[in-house]
Amino acid sequence: MRILLTGAAGNLGAQLARQLADRHDVIGVDILGEVDRRVDLTDYESTRALVNQVSPDIVLHPAAWTDVNGCALDPQRALLVNGVATGHLAAITSRLAIPLLYISSNEVFDGALHRPYTEVDQPNPINPYGYSKWYGERAIRQVNPNHYIVRSAWLFAHGGGNFVHAIRNAASAGKKLRVVVNEVANPTYTNDLAAAITRLIRTERFGIYHLVNQGAVSRWRFARDILDLTGYAETPIVRISRHEWRRPSLPPEYTPLANYAGASIGIQLRPWGDALRAFLAAENTA
Ligand SMILES: NC(=O)c1ccc[n+]([C@@H]2O[C@H](COP(=O)([O-])OP(=O)(O)OC[C@H]3O[C@@H](n4cnc5c(N)ncnc54)[C@H](OP(=O)(O)O)[C@@H]3O)[C@@H](O)[C@H]2O)c1
Repeated sequence: MRILLTGAAGNLGAQLARQLADRHDVIGVDILGEVDRRVDLTDYESTRALVNQVSPDIVLHPAAWTDVNGCALDPQRALLVNGVATGHLAAITSRLAIPLLYISSNEVFDGALHRPYTEVDQPNPINPYGYSKWYGERAIRQVNPNHYIVRSAWLFAHGGGNFVHAIRNAASAGKKLRVVVNEVANPTYTNDLAAAITRLIRTERFGIYHLVNQGAVSRWRFARDILDLTGYAETPIVRISRHEWRRPSLPPEYTPLANYAGASIGIQLRPWGDALRAFLAAENTA
């Protein structure tokens, strides 16, 4: 397949580019960075010209403004980058009858359900980042029937700054750690997510998917396991609530994602603890 991949310089995009390159012709684009082409996806005409020129069999769209606090401080920009630009891609691909895969987030849910969210549960975002991702979902669903919407959560990737690196680095610098105990979701290894997406795009089973490593955990428990596995088992972590960790974007409380749609076609990710151990082992041998 000839694949146009947005966000190719990002954490998930770079991993997708690596995993897809064996079997497919991948054209990676991003706003900056070492990619095949640079494009600002908020510019409709540039995006349309790009898709026409590349003439892909499918567009994979992980590009986004992922700074949740930045999104809270500038909701209009969040909506433009994550919502409106996704709508551009939906319209362009729909007109050309090209499938579109969009990466969305656990933060489209409000976290008030207190059971894992299924693919058919109703989103109700509580912050501007979540709203912008949900806007993108709706734009696609209204315009391009040949879509995959893949919701994921708490990504950790090699090379990128993420929660695993932040916790380990804080412990190694001897900093006092305070981590939220009442924010719960599914830590997900980008390598596992990219492998699942690589399989999904061959199915042509369009729809909404929840692709996360299995099992839900609090930020505090996740941090505890990171330290236990990286030689900092003696480092204490103070438990705090979501409201004590002051930041512009308040995350939803309980948003584990249940994977029914993917599991029904044999696409499931391993438990998050196994994924974390594999991630750390790969970091140590790199
Ligand atoms: N990270 C998570 O924990 C998480 C959880 C659930 C879902 N997701 C979703 O998963 C996807 C991938 O996340 P990630 O962590 O891999 O993100 P990332 O590393 O921030 O990558 C996103 C890429 O998109 C680029 N981009 C931003 N604005 C653009 C524009 N106007 N035109 C073209 N490219 C643009 C970014 O460039 P700059 O960096 O230069 O802005 C960046 O290279 C996103 O859609 C995100 O919403 C992420």
